[in-house]
Amino acid sequence: MTRLFGAALAVGLAALGACARPPSPAEIAARAVTLRPADDRLASLYEHSCRACHAETRASAPLAGDRAAWQPRLAKGMPALLQSIVAGYNGMPAGGQCFTCTPQDYEALVRFMAGEAGQ
Ligand code: HEC
Repeated sequence: MTRLFGAALAVGLAALGACARPPSPAEIAARAVTLRPADDRLASLYEHSCRACHAETRASAPLAGDRAAWQPRLAKGMPALLQSIVAGYNGMPAGGQCFTCTPQDYEALVRFMAGEAGQ
C-alpha cells in the first residue's frame, strides 16, 4: 500500500515537473509539426489548409498546440474567430484556404490548434 502510494506520488511529481516549466518556442515549434487531429476527415482538411501556416513558424500564425498563443485568440470568442477565418485577418487568408470546410469544421480546427481537443 505504501509502495503504491509512493509510486503514485512519484508519477504525480513527474507530472508536476513537466507542467512547472512552460515549453520553449523551439519545443512548441517541433511539436506543432507533429500534431494532427484525431478525426481522419478533420485531419485531411487540416493537412490541406491550416497546417501550411499553423505548423510553420515562418508564417507567424499561432502554432498548433501553442496554448499560450491561442489563449488571447480564444478570449475573443468563437464567433469572432469564425469571422476572422471567413473574412481573412491580416496574414490569415479568407477561408484559411479550406474550400470545403463548414463553420463546424472551422470551430473544430480552431479547438484542435488551440490544444482543446485533448492531444
Ligand atoms: C496562408 C497561411 C494561413 C493558412 C493557410 C491558415 N492560416 Fe490561420 N492565420 C494565419 C496567420 C498569419 C494568422 C495570424 C494573423 C494575425 O494575428 O495577424 C492566423 C490566424 C488565425 C486565427 C486567429 C484569428 C484572430 O482573430 O485572432 C484563426 C482562428 C485561424 N488563423 C484559423 C485558421 C484555420 C481554421 C485555418 C485552416 C482552415 C487557417 N487558419 C489557415 C495564416 C494562415
